[in-house]
Amino acid sequence: MRNRTGFFAVVLLLAFACTPSANAQQNPGNTPGHAWWQHAVIYEVYPRSFDDSNGDGIGDLNGITSKLDYLKDLGVDAIWITPCFPSPQVDFGYDVSDYVNIDPMYGTLADFDRLVAEAKKRNIRVILDFVVNHTSDQHPWFVDSKSSRTSAHRDWYIWRDGKGPGQPPNNWLSTFGLSAWKFDPTTNQYYYHYFYPEQPDLNWRNPEVEKAMFDVTRFWYKRGVAGFRLDAVDSLFEDPNLTDNPVLPGKDKFGRPNMEEKYDKKLPEVHVELQRLRKVADEYDAVLIGETWTSNVAELEQYYGNNGNELQLPMDLMLTDLPLSAAAFREHIKAVDAARGWPTYVITNHDIQRSYSRYADGVHNDDIAKMMAGFYLTLRGTSIMYYGEEIGMENNDPKRKEDVKDPIGILGWPEEKGRDGERTPMQWNGSTNAGFTTGKPWLPVPESAKTHNVAAESGNPNSVLSFYKQVIHLRKTEPALLEGAYIPLNESDPNVISYLRKSKDGAVLVVLNFSAKPQNATFDLGTRGFAGAKVKALLQNAASVPGGTLQNVKLGAYGVYIGRVTQ
Ligand code: GLC
Ligand code: CA
Repeated sequence: MRNRTGFFAVVLLLAFACTPSANAQQNPGNTPGHAWWQHAVIYEVYPRSFDDSNGDGIGDLNGITSKLDYLKDLGVDAIWITPCFPSPQVDFGYDVSDYVNIDPMYGTLADFDRLVAEAKKRNIRVILDFVVNHTSDQHPWFVDSKSSRTSAHRDWYIWRDGKGPGQPPNNWLSTFGLSAWKFDPTTNQYYYHYFYPEQPDLNWRNPEVEKAMFDVTRFWYKRGVAGFRLDAVDSLFEDPNLTDNPVLPGKDKFGRPNMEEKYDKKLPEVHVELQRLRKVADEYDAVLIGETWTSNVAELEQYYGNNGNELQLPMDLMLTDLPLSAAAFREHIKAVDAARGWPTYVITNHDIQRSYSRYADGVHNDDIAKMMAGFYLTLRGTSIMYYGEEIGMENNDPKRKEDVKDPIGILGWPEEKGRDGERTPMQWNGSTNAGFTTGKPWLPVPESAKTHNVAAESGNPNSVLSFYKQVIHLRKTEPALLEGAYIPLNESDPNVISYLRKSKDGAVLVVLNFSAKPQNATFDLGTRGFAGAKVKALLQNAASVPGGTLQNVKLGAYGVYIGRVTQ
């Protein structure tokens, strides 16, 4: 298998020899001339929660613009802003009612243009979120679609007759609870919604939908947007025959029967459409990031396209699901690194528990946060951070059902508390409401904002924030960290993950203790071309290497050591 992969890599390399970005993508290990996004640290901004410039308790675009210097200083190369388009906000922006404007609560198109221009001055690119699977039920397309069976936009969505009175067309379920079908009495048919009923799925089999949506991307590319994060791509197509999904044993968190999502997700048509979307992106040299919930590496690989012609950056969201175990992470990274395409690592986002809380052991929380930063920001690939991760923000889950804002948390309480906890305001300082707003924030800040905030951590060289700044800085200054191959070391160590990043310019050694017990690691790099080498510390936490000898790397609980290999 490995040889076959190698053979294809060589053939592709020759085929793309005159296009540097394709070349880099097929053989990313040691290739100079990478595309910008291969070196980037991308920072996800949830606009409601980043900074509120006008005191209404909700973050906005001018708030983001006012924090660009902070992001620049952190070392961010691009920001991905989750949906800031006009929206009834049922799903906090993921229900778009106009794709080519800005929601007044976030500002205006002029504010957006200013944000892009100010970001550009700081060499920060702006990436938007493209909600491809569905619109809001308030979008004029849907309003027209539901008005009659013969309306111009009827076939822009998925309408079907029920099986019988009160019976939906089939057994498909919405991922947000209840059925995926909603009956509409105006025309006596059901429409399909994989998410909330207020988010009807678009019919991508209709060429008019495709054209309209492609034009949306052009509108933003022309305004200077560097690319899109594509929302919910897995659910873009459904089986046109509406075959029932197979029912599995047991119940889900909403008390419904478990189902294999065989006919409503990950259909082969998704890949064809992504290739077409990519062609439009290529007209503008834009990057496409995917919200790709894959269940294995082979599936992730498919999202790059057979010739690198789909997504440049399908997110490895499997990484967010691993236990804090050296063996689990080592095995996973090895597989992703060996796969086709440029890895895209992410440890948290606006839909899942914050990484700080997920990995916390109650004793070494900050050390664990630093170790994870030292880990995923030194791997070969692009890293996507979530706002607040760099200061060790924790989840602040609602304590009472009546406080929940996210509808899935209301429906699924108490088992499913919704996603409010990972969306609380960015913690800028130790004042009331963490300096996010002068008004009442839309979600409350946790007690820990007193210690974990930008102002306090900026002044502390040992803070999580200082560690993030340093590791991001290293990514930019150590060529091996950007371009070098990933070479796992000491692969049978049950507690410590170690690897080299090795390029023609040298090598960087990364050693991470994934346990609460002190560990020692020794390395013989003779077989790696570094006989008798020593190591010079670049960054460490709870770790030391006396005399720089590779025979004795000492790590405290969750210690991390990053050093340059020297002869
Ligand atoms: C994606 C978004 C999530 C949203 C859903 C529906 O999963 O990340 O926040 O609720 O799509 O648009
Ligand atoms: Ca505001």
